[in-house]
Amino acid sequence: MNAPSTPFFENEDIQKKLKTLAKKAKGIPMSARFESDSDRFSRYSLNLKGLLFDYSKNHIDEDILSILIKGASEAGLQHSVAAMFDGEKINNTENRAVLHSALRAPLSDIASELQDDIAQARDQTSSFSQRVRDRQWFGATGKALTQIVNIGIGGSDLGPAMAVEALAHYANKDLEFHFVSNIDPTHIAETLSKCNPETTLFIVSSKSFTTLETLSNAKAAKAWLTHAIGNCDDIGKHFIGISSNIDAVTDFGIPADNILPMWDWVGGRYSLWSAIGLSLEIAIGVEGFYQFLDGGHCVDTHFRQAPLEENIPVLMALISMWNSNFMGADSNAVVCYEQYLHRFVSYLQQMDMESNGKGVQKNGEPCNWQTAIPLWGGTGSDTQHSYHQLFHQGSRMVPLDFIVGVNSLNPIGDQHAFLFANCIAQSKALMTGKDTATIKQELFDQGMNPEDADTLAPHKVIPGNRPSNMLVYKTLTPFVLGQLVALYEQKVFALSVLWNINAFDQWGVELGKQLSNSIKSALLESTETDYKNGDGSTAGLIAHFKKLSKQ
Ligand code: F6P
Repeated sequence: MNAPSTPFFENEDIQKKLKTLAKKAKGIPMSARFESDSDRFSRYSLNLKGLLFDYSKNHIDEDILSILIKGASEAGLQHSVAAMFDGEKINNTENRAVLHSALRAPLSDIASELQDDIAQARDQTSSFSQRVRDRQWFGATGKALTQIVNIGIGGSDLGPAMAVEALAHYANKDLEFHFVSNIDPTHIAETLSKCNPETTLFIVSSKSFTTLETLSNAKAAKAWLTHAIGNCDDIGKHFIGISSNIDAVTDFGIPADNILPMWDWVGGRYSLWSAIGLSLEIAIGVEGFYQFLDGGHCVDTHFRQAPLEENIPVLMALISMWNSNFMGADSNAVVCYEQYLHRFVSYLQQMDMESNGKGVQKNGEPCNWQTAIPLWGGTGSDTQHSYHQLFHQGSRMVPLDFIVGVNSLNPIGDQHAFLFANCIAQSKALMTGKDTATIKQELFDQGMNPEDADTLAPHKVIPGNRPSNMLVYKTLTPFVLGQLVALYEQKVFALSVLWNINAFDQWGVELGKQLSNSIKSALLESTETDYKNGDGSTAGLIAHFKKLSKQ
């Protein structure tokens, strides 16, 4: 039975208090909060098995946090967390449970009805990955397959592509990994140009096995192989299919023995923990993959058991909501000071924005509040020389998460110390900024006359007072990556509860898919007929294509 709850944004008492507190908080410089509280760092930082979360550089205090936590509790957050882990059908528009967390749990912790499926899939995936790593997976001409091409898109691409790059330090260097996602034929063509048909293994990853991009690229791969090797049954040896739609995988021509399963209770963007992670398991081995799962599971245990005020994903969600819904931020950025995490933000973008980019509540009523915040970012220190100018002096406040390791996996001189210093310096500069008086003094000291200093100073002022979080690990390992991914997954889920939306459907992506089918037909029609359902712009663009196309 559902515990009585009041959606966070319909809780009038909470809303009133938070609005008042936000008004007050805007008048308190963040650095003043540190000056008046020497324990602020330890008060507002937590450690989860070696992963430090420092949230002290936010416009928060005990009053604000206690109201946020009270509102979350009254919104039934703990109940929703339990409902997800208990397998209730919390994805209400698709009538599905949301159980990707089970994929990273030890077998003994998994509900009995899922145990066999998960155990079998894990064993099968491990045996596939081990065979490839041992050079025991042979192609049509008898050669071992060593060039791995994952064909998928969205959750069937971004997760494995991100993780294989993130853990490249631990990867088998004799194997090559490629990821093809785009319907743009250039993507598959350029990838195939680097591969040898005799030694290439395609992993076709698609939960639905109906996705246009993936099926088109898989067909192109099959045609390329057939052209090189000849049309024989052995072509199937070059393909593994991962899907919940086994019939479609078989129809495509992938032998039953080369198929790994998926289930409707795993959302595509949460599927890295399943057989969709096969390329990662091939890269880092079975043991490494299990360490990755353990990292995720450690976050789940914490998320389920820690009180809200000491719960990292919950605090990440509350602070993010506080910054966007109450303090005026209209986007969020994540900057990873770790080259290996180069693709982490692209991965997060789907997980976050496809999950929470919704405007209606779970009951179908419109949300009269803002939901998912556009998420962007990249890899520091590159980003410093690109868009940090906007973070420091732009008219918009962009709260940041900085992610950084204490140790480099590739130490060279003191470069890593510089990297770490840059990361801390950015978060400090965002907070403290630089005021007019200091800038003028510096200009005078450099010999500038007062008139010129007055003119230049406003351009050099850095307002500061901008919030950021820090996630700091010792060294990037499979376990740490598992922690990071699961932390953001659970943060996104906690936010969906606060916004009272369903994080696990994605109806918004359907319309574009439908329209593209009829537009594609119109593009390829030989006649000059108008696009029947078209507006002027669509019809004009179709006509332009037809005029210039070489197809
Ligand atoms: O973009 C919509 C979407 O359904 C994503 O949610 C999913 O990750 C992606 O397409 C790929 O879907 P599939 O794994 O079924 O090919």
